[in-house]
Amino acid sequence: MKILFVLCAFILTEVKLQEHDDPLNSFLHLKKNVFKMEPRIIGGADVLPHSYPFQAVLYITYKKRLYLCGGTLIDPRWILTAAHCVHSNNMVIDIILGAHNLTNLGAQDTIQKFRSTSYRKHPRYNNRLKLNDIALIKLPENAILNEYVNVVPISNGKNNYAGEMGTILGWGTTDDGTLPKTLKSVTVKVMSNRACKWTSPVLIQAVKQSHVCVSGAGPKGGCGGDSGGPLLVNGTQIGVASFIVNSCTMGMPTVFTRLNQFNDWIIKNINSNSDEVANVGDIVVRFVDAIFAFISFIVNLLF
Ligand SMILES: *[C@@H]1O[C@H](CO)[C@@H](O)[C@H](O)[C@H]1NC(C)=O
Ligand SMILES: *[C@@H]1O[C@H](CO)[C@@H](O)[C@H](O)[C@H]1NC(C)=O
Repeated sequence: MKILFVLCAFILTEVKLQEHDDPLNSFLHLKKNVFKMEPRIIGGADVLPHSYPFQAVLYITYKKRLYLCGGTLIDPRWILTAAHCVHSNNMVIDIILGAHNLTNLGAQDTIQKFRSTSYRKHPRYNNRLKLNDIALIKLPENAILNEYVNVVPISNGKNNYAGEMGTILGWGTTDDGTLPKTLKSVTVKVMSNRACKWTSPVLIQAVKQSHVCVSGAGPKGGCGGDSGGPLLVNGTQIGVASFIVNSCTMGMPTVFTRLNQFNDWIIKNINSNSDEVANVGDIVVRFVDAIFAFISFIVNLLF
């Protein structure tokens, strides 16, 4: 029960935006019912504009409500984020690349915006335990890579980043509780999973091999609206923001999905040519692949 209760901290929390706070009201053509997750980068600072050209803003519309998440461009066609950001079917996702200051986005020429309903959660995503909390969103067309929009390399081999300094990014609310207009980052120390578990009885149970934690000492860390955003070490993304325990300002670790455990899944998905990626489970994909293999086999036989 404890686990259930505490991990809820990172589930999409709806908070009504003040009208004057809403950076994208006209852009999204939404006047009312504008919501976001409870978000904040704790202990952070402004980044140099466009110094993280892979960082995406995700505005997720579901049942007429709007949620905020982060994501990263890992391929001109694909955004990496957390599964809990896109946990339901029939979500509409507005993806904004090349952003720094969210005021007047429509007037900025560094911006590339996309609307997608095509996304794939990890087939073994467990919402309660925050396991395999990873998802891919397919853009309707390739992003144009330039000085403001670019892809991030993702971790593939190395597993142990403990003791390294990492960077978390997000547009989430800051320590004073206000919604910032500009992208924030905070530098944090990557922990061993063992050290992470020692910080709390909840984390002893919750943290698995497929997680990577950063220290919350400061306090520093991520919070709801930073979900889906990256943990970077040396310019490589090693994690996707997944959950925290207790309140964001209590100095507890922020827990990320450990990317190098998901390379095969990511590569398989971004290499698939199918447009029908929305929420299709692995089995269906394999089945479709098998049918196509069979058809091409028959065609080869015939010709
Ligand atoms: C964001 O842009 C708006 C409009 O250009 C400007 O008034 C505001 O000062 C900017 N905010 C920051 C934090 O730079
Ligand atoms: C990051 O870079 C530093 C300095 O170049 C190096 O010592 C460290 O091993 C690197 N860390 C990783 C995880 O590659």
